[in-house]
Amino acid sequence: MDRIRITGGNQLNGIIPISGAKNAALPLMIASLLTSDTLTLENVPHLADVEQLIRILGNHGVDIAVNGRRESQGEGYSRTVHFTCRTIVDTTAPYELVSKMRASFWVIGPLLARDGKARVSLPGGCAIGTRPVDLFIEGLEALGATMEIDSGYINATAPSGGLIGATYTFPKVSVGATHVMLMAASLARGTTVIHNAAREPEVVDLAQCLTAMGAKIEGAGTSTITIEGVTSLSGARHRVLPDRIETGTYAMAVAMTGGDVLLEGTRASLLENALDTLKLAGATITETETGLRVVRNGNGIHPVDVVTEPFPGFPTDLQAQFMALMTRAQGVSHITETIFENRFMHVQELARLGAKISLSGQMARIEGVSRLKGAPVMATDLRASVSLVIAGLVAEGETVVSRVYHLDRGFERLEEKLNRCGAQVERVSD
Ligand code: UD1
Repeated sequence: MDRIRITGGNQLNGIIPISGAKNAALPLMIASLLTSDTLTLENVPHLADVEQLIRILGNHGVDIAVNGRRESQGEGYSRTVHFTCRTIVDTTAPYELVSKMRASFWVIGPLLARDGKARVSLPGGCAIGTRPVDLFIEGLEALGATMEIDSGYINATAPSGGLIGATYTFPKVSVGATHVMLMAASLARGTTVIHNAAREPEVVDLAQCLTAMGAKIEGAGTSTITIEGVTSLSGARHRVLPDRIETGTYAMAVAMTGGDVLLEGTRASLLENALDTLKLAGATITETETGLRVVRNGNGIHPVDVVTEPFPGFPTDLQAQFMALMTRAQGVSHITETIFENRFMHVQELARLGAKISLSGQMARIEGVSRLKGAPVMATDLRASVSLVIAGLVAEGETVVSRVYHLDRGFERLEEKLNRCGAQVERVSD
């Protein structure tokens, strides 16, 4: 199994190209189930999660071509991928596939809207918490679907004439459930109004793509979204928005090592709060015509308290990376995680590098230290694993991160991007 070996101590200087957003690409790919025409997505990142979803969509009957070639030949940076689902050949999403990637559960929306039925495995828990699906069930029930749980699966059935528009208020903000409601309501009869919808940029991206496909959606990016159902959707061409989590991760890496890096192809509006936090921590961030320039020269890292929140708050997906940065701050900081109950698995691993962190419920207290020292550490989930890389970039000596498959789920060409800016990061295979 691959490991990543980092030799710490180098500053980062240069250009890092930011890939298309994983968390936008996944729902956009799933939206291809809604139409018999071709949906073309540009800027699709080359990631394990994307490849896994390609396999899952193939099961449902989606034909996939990459840059006009077969999917297996697709290589390199973010690609253009064509998705065509002439007919849905299978409305079942099996446990073996859904348990590997939670987002594949989201096929339930389009399958139900287009074919009137879906049998989708419950995803089960994951490293960062129990992650229930009650909001999906309630939301789709509001559109008239019958939802039954049977042997670990949800059997969803639409009324005979199809889903029916309704007003639904989410009791809690959920990105995935908002995606699913957008897709399902686009093909429902009548108007759907969703209150307390997620406002994440990826929701806006999906709404823009659905609109290009012929959907009638207003209010995406605010907490109330109105969808007027249409009878069918067509193909479209859409460019996946830049990955704000990758952007924030590399911005934190530069804040950690010091240096001067242009994050190319991204924009500040995708992550205002996280950038403001980084500025307080001592980084200088400026938006240029081609991206975001992140600089930290000379000054140390200031401690900053952070609470994770749904967008536009500080994202939970940057919490572990920010904690890595705070391990080297000149003082004490506190990080409170409010989105996922068990998202502190990186704490023990950071401690192996010499970090001083104590946990009390959902809050971590981080006492900055003047040096970290390299050690073998283990990746536990996608974002936690990259926090160990960030810490490794400044740790003395060698840090070896195992279980690298977590990183490959969400970071395109991580070693290459960092090494081009002066880091010493190497992938070693056993
Ligand atoms: C998405 C992102 C993930 C990010 C998360 C929060 C993708 C592929 N994943 O995950 O990277 O960390 O948003 O920004 O886009 N919840 C329920 N019941 C439900 C659904 C969710 O209680 O039916 C809870 C979750 O357990 C969690 C909270 O709601 O505590 C937010 O989760 P949600 O926004 O749904 O996360 P995902 O869409 O799974």
